[in-house]
Amino acid sequence: MKYFLFLVLTFLSSESMASGEETYKAVCSNCHATGLNKAPMVGDKKQWAKLIKEGQAHITSDGYYGVGAMPPKGGKPDITVAEFSSAVVYMANLSGANWKEPDEVMLKDINKRITKKLSKS
Ligand code: HEC
Repeated sequence: MKYFLFLVLTFLSSESMASGEETYKAVCSNCHATGLNKAPMVGDKKQWAKLIKEGQAHITSDGYYGVGAMPPKGGKPDITVAEFSSAVVYMANLSGANWKEPDEVMLKDINKRITKKLSKS
């Protein structure tokens, strides 16, 4: 019974949150697969090396908040920080990074940085 419940919950939680790949394909690839407006192109290791060096929490919070020609949340207002973060991991790992899906500590760090940016604006 416990095992069954676990399966149901796993199914429900994976249903409600889009995977990094899904989010990337639906939202981010418009710009990041083509380099539109100089968006760092997925797979371009040279372009991504600098971003990867800046770090996961840093560039995820920048992107979610919006930076340069990058619209806040990639232009999708209802995207969650967790979904956005997964998409960043998906993109970075195709471009030379070896990042993990954000755990609670990483999400906390990302959220803190976003809150800080919001409080300054
Ligand atoms: C309308 C085009 C567009 C869409 C859609 C878009 N991006 Fe971007 N993104 C950009 C551009 C342009 C930059 C470069 C911004 C700069 O550095 O001036 C960028 C930069 C970034 C960066 C690097 C931020 C940094 O610190 O320099 C990340 C991470 C990122 N995008 C993630 C995403 C994710 C994840 C999505 C989808 C949820 C997404 N983007 C959707 C245009 C877009």
